[in-house]
Amino acid sequence: MKKIIVRGGKSLYGNVNISGMKNAALPIIFASILVGERCVVENLPPVSDVELSLEILEKMGATVERLGNNAVAIDTKNFQNGTSPKELVSKLRGSTYLLGAELGRFGEACVGSSGGCDFGSRPIDQHIKGFVALGAKYQNDDTYNILKAEHGGLYGAAVYLDIASVGATINVMLAAALANGKTTIDNAAREPHIVDVANFLNMCGARITGAGTSVIKIQGVPELHGCNYTILPDMIEAGTYMAAAAAAGGRVGIRGVIPKHVETVTAKLLEMNVDVEMYEDIITVSRYGPLGSANVKTYFYPGFPTDMHPQFSALLATANGTSVVTESVWEKRFQYVEELCKMGADIAVDGNRATIYGVPVLSGTEVTATDLRAGAALIIAGLTAEGETVIYGVEKIERGYDDIVGKLRALGADIELVEE
Ligand code: EPU
Repeated sequence: MKKIIVRGGKSLYGNVNISGMKNAALPIIFASILVGERCVVENLPPVSDVELSLEILEKMGATVERLGNNAVAIDTKNFQNGTSPKELVSKLRGSTYLLGAELGRFGEACVGSSGGCDFGSRPIDQHIKGFVALGAKYQNDDTYNILKAEHGGLYGAAVYLDIASVGATINVMLAAALANGKTTIDNAAREPHIVDVANFLNMCGARITGAGTSVIKIQGVPELHGCNYTILPDMIEAGTYMAAAAAAGGRVGIRGVIPKHVETVTAKLLEMNVDVEMYEDIITVSRYGPLGSANVKTYFYPGFPTDMHPQFSALLATANGTSVVTESVWEKRFQYVEELCKMGADIAVDGNRATIYGVPVLSGTEVTATDLRAGAALIIAGLTAEGETVIYGVEKIERGYDDIVGKLRALGADIELVEE
C-alpha cells in the first residue's frame, strides 16, 4: 500500500513547473477517435487517468506510440467502436467522452457506465439530451449506454444545456464535429479545457467557434485530419501550488501557467493577505505574515473552481477568523472535512456550506484521501501541521497530479512517498 508522509513546518522556496491540464488531456485523447489518423499530443500530464484513457484506446484497436514522458502519437485508424473494456471505463469519468466520439465517427456508440471521483450522483442527462437533439436514439440497459443515429447520420441542431456542464458541452462538440449541418450549444460551459478541446478539433479541420463563451457553434465537416497539438497548462495544479505556498509560507514561483485561468484563486489569496505577483506565464506567491479568513463560493468558470475548494478549506483551517465555503457544483464534495477535523480543524458542514473556524495549528495524524482534490487538501494541511501526517488513498491523488511529492520536495517540503 502506498502512503504519503508529510512532516509539517517547512516553508516553501523555489520554482515549480506546471504540467498539462488533465481535464483537457482526457477529452483530447478521446477526441482523437473522430480523426482516424495519427495525431501527436504534447504536454500530456503523466497521471494515471491519462494512462488509463490511453490504455482504453489501445484495447479498442488504436495505436498509441509514446514519444517520451509527456507526448504520444495516437492513430485511431483501426479503432473498433463498441469494444470498450467495461472494467476500465468504470474507473474514469473521462470515459463518457467515448459516447460523443464513437457516435460522431460511427453513428453509434455502446459504452459502459463511467466512474471517477465520488461526489454523489453524476448524471449524464444533458449529454444524452444533446445527442438526441442531433438525431440519436438512446437506450440504457443498466449496464451500457447505447446510442444510434436514427436517420442515417447525425444532423446539426440547437442544443440548450440546462446546466453549463463541462462533460456535456464537450460531448456535444465531439458528436457535432462530423455531423451534417450546424449545431449551436447554448449555456455551454466556458472552462479553459473546453477551449483546448475546440482548438484541438479545429487543428484537425473542425469548424468550431465561440468556445470559451456560453454559445458554441459547430459547423459539421465531412472528415478530420491528424495534427500536432500541445495541451494547455493545468490551472487546478497551478492553483494547488498557489494554495500550498500560501499555507506553508515562503516564496514560490509557479511557472508555465496562464495567470488569467487562476484569477479567482489569486483574488482570494490577496484577500487573505497573501502576496501574489503575476507575470506573463509565471505567478509568484509569498506569505510571511498571518493568513486572513475569506468566504469562498464555487461556481462554473469563470467563478471559483470547485476543484480548488478542498485545497482552500485546508488553507482556511488555520486562517485568523471564520470563513464560509459554499459549494455550488457537487453535492458531496465535503467528504474531506472529516479527515481535516482528525487533524484538529474546526469545521461545521450544513448542507452545501462549510463554516471554518480558524485554529492556530493543525496536528499530524493518519488520514485518507477521499478523492483527488481532497488528497491535495490533506497534503496542504500536512505542510502546515505540527508533527507527521500520513496520507492513505495515494492512488486517488495520482489520478490527477504529476509527481506532487517530488515537486513539493524540490520546494523544500519534508514529504515522501512510501510503498509498503
Ligand atoms: N450535471 C448534470 N447533468 C449532466 C451533467 C452534469 O446535472 O448531464 C451536473 C453535475 O451533477 C454537477 C454539474 O452538472 O452538479 C457539473 O458537472 P460537469 O458535467 O461540469 O462535470 P464533469 O464534466 O463530470 C468535470 C471535471 C471535474 C470537475 C467538473 C466541474 C473531468 C474529467 N472532470 O466533471 O473534475 O469537478 O468538471 O468543473 O473533466 C477533478 O479534476 O478533480 C474533477 C472532479
